[in-house]
Amino acid sequence: MMFISGLMLLLQTAACLDRFCRFNQSDPCYAALGHKLNVLMLLNTSEYDMKIQKRINYNKTTDPLCRVKNDTIKKKECDLYSNRPEVTVINGTLIINRVIRADSGNYTVTLYHSDGTDTSTHLEDLEVNVEAPIGSVEVSIICSSSGVMRASCSSEGDQLLYSWTLNGDSLTDGNSSIDLNEGTDGNITCSVKNHVSHGQKTINVKPCPGPTTPSVTSTAKDSEYVSVVFVLVWCFQLMGLFGLLGGFHIYMRHTSGLDRFCRFDQFDPCYAALGHKLNVLMVLDTNEYDMKIQKRINYNKITDPVCRVKNDRIKKNECDLYSNRSEVTVINGTLIMNRVIRADSGNYTVSLYRSDGSKTSTDLEVNVEAPIGSVEVSIICSSSGVMRASCSSEGDQLLYSWTLNGDSLMDGNSSIDLNEGTDGNITCSVKNHVSHGQKTINVKPCVVSLFVLVWCFQMMVLFGLLGGFHIYMRHTSGKKQEDQKLRMRRFRERHEHTAEDS
Ligand SMILES: *[C@@H]1O[C@H](CO)[C@@H](O)[C@H](O)[C@H]1NC(C)=O
Ligand SMILES: *[C@@H]1O[C@H](CO)[C@@H](O)[C@H](O)[C@H]1NC(C)=O
Ligand SMILES: *[C@@H]1O[C@H](CO)[C@@H](O)[C@H](O)[C@H]1NC(C)=O
Ligand SMILES: *[C@@H]1O[C@H](CO)[C@@H](O)[C@H](O)[C@H]1NC(C)=O
Ligand SMILES: *[C@@H]1O[C@H](CO)[C@@H](O)[C@H](O)[C@H]1NC(C)=O
Ligand SMILES: *[C@@H]1O[C@H](CO)[C@@H](O)[C@H](O)[C@H]1NC(C)=O
Ligand SMILES: *[C@@H]1O[C@H](CO)[C@@H](O)[C@H](O)[C@H]1NC(C)=O
Ligand SMILES: *[C@@H]1O[C@H](CO)[C@@H](O)[C@H](O)[C@H]1NC(C)=O
Repeated sequence: MMFISGLMLLLQTAACLDRFCRFNQSDPCYAALGHKLNVLMLLNTSEYDMKIQKRINYNKTTDPLCRVKNDTIKKKECDLYSNRPEVTVINGTLIINRVIRADSGNYTVTLYHSDGTDTSTHLEDLEVNVEAPIGSVEVSIICSSSGVMRASCSSEGDQLLYSWTLNGDSLTDGNSSIDLNEGTDGNITCSVKNHVSHGQKTINVKPCPGPTTPSVTSTAKDSEYVSVVFVLVWCFQLMGLFGLLGGFHIYMRHTSGLDRFCRFDQFDPCYAALGHKLNVLMVLDTNEYDMKIQKRINYNKITDPVCRVKNDRIKKNECDLYSNRSEVTVINGTLIMNRVIRADSGNYTVSLYRSDGSKTSTDLEVNVEAPIGSVEVSIICSSSGVMRASCSSEGDQLLYSWTLNGDSLMDGNSSIDLNEGTDGNITCSVKNHVSHGQKTINVKPCVVSLFVLVWCFQMMVLFGLLGGFHIYMRHTSGKKQEDQKLRMRRFRERHEHTAEDS
């Protein structure tokens, strides 16, 4: 019974996507990709022959056309729907049983009197737009470790318009994702529509467990989300612990570890951490040389900014390169920038002048990168049961890598799809040339999706039973008595036969 009603449901949704248009309508005609389109061309078919032409180059000679005579497509004069047996004309209505993308476009119909009089009438052009109907709607909730809750909605289909309601009240419209108050609690519905169909999905959300989550037991009654909340709370506690430990570690590293040391005769580029200290060794024996540091901007010795160093000191008057930057000094032949800025990136040349007048030069490429900030990992359990881990951090030129329970996963991306049953510690490691960082969180299998699925299935069974019963009643109520009589008669006959046989 369930199967039958399921089928009925399917047929019904399929029927819903059939579209009806007519020539002379003022609005465009929207057709659902893969579904049926009926276009009324004229009412009295015995009176007219027709020519349907698709306007591609707006050239009556070359644009594809289809001639209809006596309410029948003339196969030989129809390059517009050639090889498409699913396109027919019935009672002056063009019927396309399975719309394809190429059916989009502007069409014109010309009517000719079938009695041979050569007057023709043009109908107003019809614009046909094909849109893929909306598939299943999925809603996922992301609780980022920073405490923001974001609901995201996804669906197949063209030209989607989204709208949201929370406990029946509509929220700001328009986008596929929406940021919610971290304390949001209730039923959130994403509605998706386009010109040919619509769909929606409602899920129940519980507040994101922030650092101030009161107690785990208070949420223990809510069957749907309790395990998720539990896991998240536990996760947050772990994160707190790791955070404290890691924070201290990183603090120690940050204050000393981000200082960079380069030298002018090094082969590789020099990487400096934005906002941190850069030491560039220029010369070991400072007594012997005067120096000129020049930044190569236009590779022009006259106009590019320079800084002259004499007797191990920057000559303020001859230093437009580091003008007004008191944190830049030279000590013992080493250029020291206490707070590197982005503009320090570039190619530099240091020229050393001996007191006897001879000169040597070396080049250095300096790249400034923002160091890695705190690393955040968030887990998304989508209602389709896919688990996705996403990693975020500040910093330039980030390289990501992942491990699950110590085993490394595929490298390279800031987010990674996991098996929905994933269980264990997942670590996101981020590095660039000047720093690195990582974050480990504990993940438990996606329970949300399981619960939603179970709920969904229960609803399906319920509707199935109701629908099926309804149909069953309608189908049988008429024939019931008749059937009963028939069956009784057959039964009696069979009984008599068996009696005779024996
Ligand atoms: C349809 O056209 C025929 C032939 O011209 C005419 O006899 C008939 O009355 C028309 N029917 C309607 C409903 O207009
Ligand atoms: C339509 O196409 C034909 C053949 O290519 C060409 O000779 C004719 O000039 C075109 N007509 C218009 C209105 O562009
Ligand atoms: C038009 O079609 C009908 C039904 O298919 C047929 O009876 C009739 O003879 C046809 N008329 C002409 C002129 O071909
Ligand atoms: C065409 O229309 C006429 C009158 O409306 C109707 O009797 C006939 O059944 C229709 N034909 C088809 C094939 O739908
Ligand atoms: C159809 O016609 C409308 C207006 O007449 C125009 O805006 C649109 O671009 C045309 N579409 C195609 C596919 O030619
Ligand atoms: C469509 O419009 C044309 C011109 O405006 C008119 O002659 C024709 O009767 C109309 N056809 C229908 C089916 O409304
Ligand atoms: C949709 O999102 C974009 C970028 O996230 C934003 O700029 C835009 O204002 C949003 N639109 C609405 C209607 O909220
Ligand atoms: C959310 O939906 C469930 C099931 O339909 C219902 O029991 C519950 O009361 C709803 N919650 C709110 C806040 O509307």
